[in-house]
Amino acid sequence: MALVTTKEMFKKAYEGKYAIGAFNINNMEIIQGVIRGAKAKNSAVILQCSTGALKYAGPKYLKAMVDAAIEETGVDVALHLDHGPDFDSVKLAIESGFTSVMFDGSHYDYEENVQKTKEVVEYAHAHGVVVEAELGVLAGVEDDVVAAEHIYTNPEQAVDFVNRTGVDSLAIAIGTSHGAFKFPPDFNPQLRFDILEEIQSKLPGFPIVLHGASAVDPNAVETCNKYGGNIAGAKGIPVDMLRKAASMAVCKINMDTDLRLAMTAAIRKVFGDNPKEFDPRKYLGAGRDAVQKVVEGKIEFVLGSTNSLK
Ligand code: G3H
Ligand code: 13P
Ligand code: ZN
Repeated sequence: MALVTTKEMFKKAYEGKYAIGAFNINNMEIIQGVIRGAKAKNSAVILQCSTGALKYAGPKYLKAMVDAAIEETGVDVALHLDHGPDFDSVKLAIESGFTSVMFDGSHYDYEENVQKTKEVVEYAHAHGVVVEAELGVLAGVEDDVVAAEHIYTNPEQAVDFVNRTGVDSLAIAIGTSHGAFKFPPDFNPQLRFDILEEIQSKLPGFPIVLHGASAVDPNAVETCNKYGGNIAGAKGIPVDMLRKAASMAVCKINMDTDLRLAMTAAIRKVFGDNPKEFDPRKYLGAGRDAVQKVVEGKIEFVLGSTNSLK
């Protein structure tokens, strides 16, 4: 039981044809929901913080709560910086005790992405921290940059990028997208497994990451809307496609939106069913239980990482 890097997790996931879930954390209830879900399924897990999460809760609070979660449950956890936009954010995360960082230079031109990623890798590796980078652009919002169209990852470029930067894992664009509103309502999402296959064959054994992989459960959306929400046209990635990706070179699957929707639906329901309720433990507790349920389902049916802990 420890705060670990993703190295061993990814090796086992690659060989075992499953993926590790990377769930975004912002507060105590989300951390507890995720770690309890992982514990219930005896699965390793990645807890990741965006720069927005670091601003909201503060790196010291997040690290201390993650330490407490590990001590209580004994689950192997990697604490990861999600979408680090620059060297300073990476440095702050490493100084705060994170074991893994993402430097997202995907919106820079290729050579700039290589150079900036390389600097991050040198610094992180010198501190015993692993690095995820990104190549290609997901449609939707990435780091406040709105991309209208996917720029699929070029497999040749992926090989060159990995060799020149020394990154430990690579996020690729094959058709996933961030947020709840990934696609137009009548659009049938497709993942480019041909690209994933080509990257896998050119970089055997190398861990690939999928961002924007929430499935957007229609029941959670319906509950939000039934209890006063207005979330229209949300659509996610089909679960069978994610499961297939997890059985290939994809070792890390990022999900945030599904936790947000589940937590919001549960909290709205508490207020809707009992307008007199004003004890935060009642509604935040319901949100925490909903997060745990989602994480257990992801581990079982999407990631395939049940019993990945020894
Ligand atoms: O990829 C983005 C994650 O969902 C984090 O979102 O920047 O609003 O915390 P956030
Ligand atoms: P979703 O918005 O699909 O949950 O993706 C989250 C993500 O990729 C975080 O980096
Ligand atoms: Zn992401």
